[in-house]
Amino acid sequence: MGLINGIQRFFDERFDTALAKKLINEQVHKRLPPRTGWLHIYGSLSLLLFINQSLTGIMLLLYYRPTPEAAHKSIQYITAEVQFGWLYRQIHAWGASLMILAVVIHMTRTFFMGSYKKPRELTWVTGVILFILTVGFGFTGYLLPWNQIAFWATTVGTESANKVPVIGDWLQYFLRGGDAVTGETLSRFFVVHVIILPWLLVGVVALHLFLMRLNNLSTLEAVGEEKPLTPEYGIPFFPVHVAKEGCVAVLMIAVLVTLSIVVPWEIGEPADALSTPEHIKPEWYFLPSYQLLKYFEGPYGAVIGIFACSIPFGLLMLWPFLDRGKERHPKKRPIAVSIGLVGLFSALGLGFLGHISETNQTFFGKEYHIDLLGWPHLIEGDAAAPDDLGRAEH
Ligand code: HEM
Repeated sequence: MGLINGIQRFFDERFDTALAKKLINEQVHKRLPPRTGWLHIYGSLSLLLFINQSLTGIMLLLYYRPTPEAAHKSIQYITAEVQFGWLYRQIHAWGASLMILAVVIHMTRTFFMGSYKKPRELTWVTGVILFILTVGFGFTGYLLPWNQIAFWATTVGTESANKVPVIGDWLQYFLRGGDAVTGETLSRFFVVHVIILPWLLVGVVALHLFLMRLNNLSTLEAVGEEKPLTPEYGIPFFPVHVAKEGCVAVLMIAVLVTLSIVVPWEIGEPADALSTPEHIKPEWYFLPSYQLLKYFEGPYGAVIGIFACSIPFGLLMLWPFLDRGKERHPKKRPIAVSIGLVGLFSALGLGFLGHISETNQTFFGKEYHIDLLGWPHLIEGDAAAPDDLGRAEH
């Protein structure tokens, strides 16, 4: 006790600790709207998963080597030799997917509950930046194990950059650090993944949380009609909401460990620039854009495809300034809710088509070949499987 009192006196004599205590107290005991519940935990879940990615990422960094010769071997070493290395590698790989999922659910919740409306437009805009940064983590991290699928998925992914009008060639060169995916690309992706993106994300998350605290959480009441939060009206952030967040955090850690043990991620074969695997597909979160791009062929088609993939991001960014209606309740915003549902189901549909394309699937007892574009072709008897464009060989 004497030591703690001594430390406290040390700070009291040098800083205005009363002010700091007052500010912390205010934040901890802040009132939230009465209906703040389980739907409001996805933001803190995203934050928890980011912290998890940072901690497991630091553990991986102790042994990972970002060169084409050593990268794959170092991941094998982490998995086979380092104590608990397999566990934190698995948790990092699963955490990446779950973080993107948590961010998407959080974004969907704030969209359908109209939380982006005045005065929270900038909270939403910083959120869209966080979404892009999170996906950027997935894109750059995927290459780091330097395995076949990652190498070729990155080759295909960076190829789409060259379809961007005017700056396409330069952009592809910039991303790859050369004409092809090589050790230069690995270095670039490594630096972006472990230095640039984490610090950008920390800065933007801090701004996002500051804005969220400044305006407090939204209710379903229309813009300008939200009741002021008095101690009798709202619920305390601590302990009521923090208890819910704690339950979800414990559950998420259990899910991460279970997935890591039951469905482990493969390390795959080392990258080989001379042998292209048969079907290259990106991670699930890129499947909608990957599938959409396939419908646009030829030099002009490809440019239109790139625009088609960028429009949803532009729309998301500008959305609070396009939807100026005052209502927040989903039942009173049929147009915004319909647009949101069309966007959500299109992404899910495209993602599903991307997932099953170029495979054989059985529907109602009959086998179909799903071509590159997602069209099913019945495989009859011993007929040869059709090629990627659905043409059966005769
Ligand atoms: C790393 C990513 C993110 C983190 C850590 C994060 C964190 C949070 C937290 C802790 C809250 C408090 C309420 C809640 O959890 O629902 C919140 C609120 C909010 N977030 Fe995020 N967020 C992230 C991404 C996003 C994205 C992608 C969007 C939308 C594009 C977004 C938009 C909002 C909005 C509008 C609010 C205010 C909600 C309200 O007033 O009810 N956030 N965020």
